[in-house]
Amino acid sequence: MPQENPPVFTTSNGNPVSDPYTTQRIPVKTDGYKYAPPVGPLLLQDFKLIDNLAHFDRERIPERVVHAKGGGAFGYFEVTDDISDVCSAKFLDTVGKKTRTFTRFSTVGGEKGSADTARDPRGFATKLYTEEGNLDLVYNNTPIFFIRDPSKFPYFIHTQKRNPQTNLKDANMFWDYLTANPESLHQVMYLFTNRGTPRSWRTMNGYSGHTYKWYNASGEWKYVQVHFKSNQGVHNFDNENAGELAGKNPDWNTQDLFDAIQRGEYPSWECYIQTMTLEQAKKLPFSVFDLTKVWPHKDFPLRHFGRLTLNENPQNYFAEVEQAAFSPSNTVPGMEASNDPVLQSRLFSYPDTHRHRLGGNFSQIPVNCPLKSGTFTPHIRDGNMCVNGNLGATPNYPNAYNCPIQYKAPVRPAGNKPDEKYEGEVVPYAWQVTDYDFYQPGQLWEVLGREAGEQEALVHNIAVHAIAANDEIQERVCEYFSKANPVIGKQVHKELQNLKRSGKM
Ligand code: HEM
Repeated sequence: MPQENPPVFTTSNGNPVSDPYTTQRIPVKTDGYKYAPPVGPLLLQDFKLIDNLAHFDRERIPERVVHAKGGGAFGYFEVTDDISDVCSAKFLDTVGKKTRTFTRFSTVGGEKGSADTARDPRGFATKLYTEEGNLDLVYNNTPIFFIRDPSKFPYFIHTQKRNPQTNLKDANMFWDYLTANPESLHQVMYLFTNRGTPRSWRTMNGYSGHTYKWYNASGEWKYVQVHFKSNQGVHNFDNENAGELAGKNPDWNTQDLFDAIQRGEYPSWECYIQTMTLEQAKKLPFSVFDLTKVWPHKDFPLRHFGRLTLNENPQNYFAEVEQAAFSPSNTVPGMEASNDPVLQSRLFSYPDTHRHRLGGNFSQIPVNCPLKSGTFTPHIRDGNMCVNGNLGATPNYPNAYNCPIQYKAPVRPAGNKPDEKYEGEVVPYAWQVTDYDFYQPGQLWEVLGREAGEQEALVHNIAVHAIAANDEIQERVCEYFSKANPVIGKQVHKELQNLKRSGKM
């Protein structure tokens, strides 16, 4: 439908452009060419053309080093139950209170144009624009992770991406790393179930994975894990359907979310916490800071506190989805990071990559701007692309006359003792793998056995992936899964032989 009063095209400095398709040329008097138009070369003074080309040449920004492919939507978080005994965050202080949100879903390993249905964990990152500043919940759709020592993250990610020589995905690198670092087993088992290929972003859950520390108005704190459970149910593709769709419609999940919201079918998730006291944590058979472990629900039951609903598509993908910058360091009073070393590293890594990907003033981009709380950062000034007025004449350092320091933001009240205590010498620490690391993967295998076909799907999905690795690595893959249960290793071995015999490689 043509617009009634369409805007006039302009150059970037606002001059009206009479015809966007013309270029400045000089008519030639004698037409020596039979077919060429009777005009001379382009002119450097043609600012309209240069303006257009020069900006086009700079359209691309670096893609995210991980989680490059994704889509997102605005929505709201609503408090359903009072958890003020656990958390003092203001956006949680009244049942029924709503906070605007922006959520981005993503795959991890693939590039910006890669297929949505690839086997991969899915990112599930939500920004809440609260009255105390932006809170980012930068979660995945799996409750555990591949590593628990952050020094491994870049190595691990390299092995899941492309081979430095061939530029191909490399099954040898993929399995060589994982089998040599078997604390990854729990996450890898989860990934090779059909949950590794969700049918829709709407039909998957989200998990904090990490342990956080939340505290109440008296300063009493608890360890917390967060779970988002899909109200659309959990539905997945099998390996073959996901593979086929990767070719037919690589943007399947992106389209599914956009179309559902356009139709008015707003996806939602119920939000729960698990809580644990310091005393309980000391008695655990694993570290509360170990990201490869789940907290048993029978000991740490889920407690309902909210609902996330997505009801508004972005108006512009680049402005709002591509430029979105989430970070676990964006938190609000009442919520703290725990000493999980992976989480601690993430506190550094995200704002660091945002400065590289989006520039130093990335938090001025509207999707990242804490609009509801506002900011007063007289010390954070200038830099590329400062577009918010730069706080005008306000002095750029705290001083008694016209930029006084006022301690208004609550720091955690020192109410609860004992807190964690650390003392001793600095040591190079390597977190050793023990038999206990295979206990929860073994339990996952048992849980899969409750649903017809789930164990078979796991075995099949592993084998069709590992078949691309060499024979020695295939043997290591069988040994690796045998650590969870020897049956898995035997069955994967058998499935690999079947695939080889049938030539499906
Ligand atoms: C994205 C680093 C572990 C969830 C990213 C990005 C980096 C990164 C650099 C790109 C951010 C951007 O360009 O905006 C790391 C490091 C980790 C780690 C160094 C461990 C040491 C995790 C874990 C989770 C997670 C354990 C989930 C529990 C995400 C999500 C995104 C992301 C959801 C996408 C955010 C978005 O949609 O923009 N990560 N990550 N990461 N990461 Fe991590």
